[in-house]
Amino acid sequence: MTSEKIIENTISFVKETLKDAEGGHDWFHIERVYNNSRLIASSEDVDPLIVALGALLHDIADSKFHNGDETVGPKVAKAFLSDLNVGEKVIGHVIKIIENISFKGGNTNQSFNSKELAVVQDADRLDALGAIGIARAFNYGGFKGRTLFDPELQPNLKMSKEEYKASTAPTINHFYEKLLLLKDRMNTETGKAIAEQRHTYMQGFLEQFYAEWHGKA
Ligand code: ADP
Ligand code: NI
Repeated sequence: MTSEKIIENTISFVKETLKDAEGGHDWFHIERVYNNSRLIASSEDVDPLIVALGALLHDIADSKFHNGDETVGPKVAKAFLSDLNVGEKVIGHVIKIIENISFKGGNTNQSFNSKELAVVQDADRLDALGAIGIARAFNYGGFKGRTLFDPELQPNLKMSKEEYKASTAPTINHFYEKLLLLKDRMNTETGKAIAEQRHTYMQGFLEQFYAEWHGKA
């Protein structure tokens, strides 16, 4: 099967699988990450099929929505790609991308690195920033029944992966615990430049948020 056909089949599979997904982790998130990936990849020396499949399948079964089980996504992706007769090497690399893309509090060492992972990870991180990043954070917070903000509850920057996953903190805390940390963790030059601009936009949002919270005109 040609790369184009593999990608076409994967797009249909992802759209169908994520049709009832939470608004920040649905097909449109995948589509944005796929587009970001292609933009970033155009300045990098990477295998375009691996980048495309990594982007399209990275949230196929996010552990957040599968009782914390991190093995479901890789399993589903592997079964799907094997059915399409995609080569073992490509499948293995895509699985490594899915296993290693997530932030998980930022205090866990990443066990695998590749240029393709670097591209897809940046693409996914960009979608956590800027206007879309703000919208996604509050959508996820609402989905989980979180409060918007609580001045008594300080952000926790020293969370283990387990604590990060189990956190029930207000959504504003997530900005300090993850979103504002991302710009210094970007892998590629293209990713860094876009992240800077989206980071500044989020800082402006937070300033305005606190001003309104404290009743300033
Ligand atoms: P991880 O943070 O484990 O890598 P994701 O990258 O899948 O998980 O997170 C994707 C997006 O989901 C975040 O960028 C954010 O928009 C939303 N999200 C995840 N956890 C939270 C949270 N605790 N509060 C608000 N939004 C969250
Ligand atoms: Ni994602």
